[in-house]
Amino acid sequence: MIFGLRRSSPPVIRPLRPDKAEACARLHAKGFAHPWSAQEVAALIASASTLAAAALDPANGRLRGFVLSRLAADEAEILTIAVEAASRGKGVGRALLGEALRQASNAGAKAMFLEVGKDNAPALALYERLGFVKVGERAGYYRRNDGTRAAAVIMRKALG
Ligand SMILES: CC(C)(COP(=O)(O)OP(=O)(O)OC[C@H]1O[C@@H](n2cnc3c(N)ncnc32)[C@H](O)[C@@H]1OP(=O)(O)O)[C@@H](O)C(=O)NCCC(=O)NCCS
Repeated sequence: MIFGLRRSSPPVIRPLRPDKAEACARLHAKGFAHPWSAQEVAALIASASTLAAAALDPANGRLRGFVLSRLAADEAEILTIAVEAASRGKGVGRALLGEALRQASNAGAKAMFLEVGKDNAPALALYERLGFVKVGERAGYYRRNDGTRAAAVIMRKALG
């Protein structure tokens, strides 16, 4: 066996196609307490106000991560972003979020908003890294699988 052939290449960022809805739903279910069905994801991808991007394995097209955001007038909002566990910590989330920001800016949005669990340290770190700042907080907003509740932090980034 030739070493190196098995090493996987970094994912590439591509448009998120409806045929990935099922893979998105599976990935989303692993990261969030309230799963979305493949039908819900497909409907979002098909919606004219949705911006979407996928991180795909260049070798086989497998979904490694995705981001969905929504445009409303001159603002946009991240609906969800998720990277499969095995691909985290390698810059995939950063690349997906960067693409979502570019898409929103190209579509004329002046700011991007998002909500994140106050206890979600990796996501908070990613958002701060990309220039989001906290603009509010909602106490007890998320209900976790174990029944506990967590506050949501609302963050905003101005788009150039
Ligand atoms: C949040 C998430 C998308 C990050 O994706 P990722 O591909 O691992 O992130 P990246 O490797 O691109 O990291 C980008 C930056 O985020 C921060 N970060 C990411 N994971 C981190 C961790 N576990 N601890 C601390 N900081 C972290 C770092 O600042 C990093 O920048 P640096 O490497 O220059 O220091 C991923 O952890 C995930 O899918 N989590 C489950 C779903 C979720 O919680 N989504 C957010 C909901 S609001």
